[in-house]
This record gives sequence, C-alpha cells and structure tokens, in this order.
Amino acid sequence: LSNEHKTRILSSIRDVKDFPKEGIIFKDITTLLNDKEAFNLLMNHLEDRYKDYDLDYVAGIDSRGFIFGAALADRLKIGFVPVRKKGKLPSTTVCEKYELEYGFDEVEIHLDAFHEKVGAKVLLIDDLIATGGTANAAAKLIKKVKANLVEACFLLNLSFLDGKKRVEEHTTVYTIFNV
Ligand code: PRP
Ligand code: MG
Repeated sequence: LSNEHKTRILSSIRDVKDFPKEGIIFKDITTLLNDKEAFNLLMNHLEDRYKDYDLDYVAGIDSRGFIFGAALADRLKIGFVPVRKKGKLPSTTVCEKYELEYGFDEVEIHLDAFHEKVGAKVLLIDDLIATGGTANAAAKLIKKVKANLVEACFLLNLSFLDGKKRVEEHTTVYTIFNV
C-alpha cells in the first residue's frame, strides 16, 4: 500500500467528537464506505495481501467487520462466516464471554460454520481493535470450532490501548492504520 493510497484511505475516515459519549473520538468508517475510490483502494490492498494465503474463509466480527469481511471473501472467492453478538445466530452455536468497560458481553459462532472442516484456514477481520476484548473472544471461538486462525486483520488499531497483544497470543495480527 503506497503512502499516497494510505493517506487517501485514512483521510476518508471521519473523526466524530464525543460519540457515543463525551471525551471519545469515534472513528466513523461510513465515510470510507460511501467513498467509492477509498473503499476500492482498501479492498484492492486487502485482496492483494490475502490472495496467496490460500484461505478457506473470512470471519467478520459483528457488525462493522461484516462489511469488510464479506467484501473481501467475495474478492477471494471464498466463504464468509459471521461472529455475532449473543442471541442472533439461529442454529447451534459456541459462545465466548468477554469483559467490557462495564460488565460483560458474549459473541457466538455457528458450530458448523466452517462445515466441520477441521483445520479450515480462516482470516479474522474487523474494522477496529481497541482493548482487543472482542477480537480475543472471536479468536477463541474460531479455535473452539477447530479451525486454523491464520491471521487477524484490523483497519484501525487504537495502539495506546495495546489490544493487539491479546490477539497476538492466538495468531499474527495485521493492522493497516495505527492511530
Ligand atoms: C467496536 C469495533 C470493534 C470493537 C473493538 O464495535 O467495531 O468490533 O468495538 O473494541 P475492543 O477491541 O475494545 O473489543 P462495537 O462493539 O462498537 O459494535 P459495532 O461494530 O456493531 O458498531
Ligand atoms: Mg465492531
């Protein structure tokens, strides 16, 4: 990814002050998605990076990870698997609890999401990694259903929170923008 393209993509992401609460600067990726040039540059880069990984599936995290994950899976001509927040998946699931700032949340994956193919090569993707709590739980789920988590990919890394380290206990981590 050239510096020019990197800058072009990053500048399409909007900073929204005080959302969802005071003091937080929210990284708004909707302004990247509706910018066809920036979105295309990003997807070209992801396709280029992962085309020779011989992946079987892309797994995306609910909900913003679905957008990039499904687009990438189609580029790579492989399947897409959603890791969803609790209570959304209809069939038999495996769950993993994780800690939030206040309280807990849970993510789930379908038990047969990878067609019970042991060792399926999976890329995990999300728009952003902050504390790493969500991605860490998602990584655990992928392992629980006996797939092979080849890499975890995030567009944005809030590096001051050090969440990347937690996911690195499971697999290699690729982040495009460290902010
Ligand atoms: C955001 C973001 C990541 C997660 C990162 O999602 O899209 O999925 O938080 O936080 P963490 O590293 O501290 O776990 P959010 O839960 O706000 O939901 P959304 O994607 O549905 O907007
Ligand atoms: Mg999310």
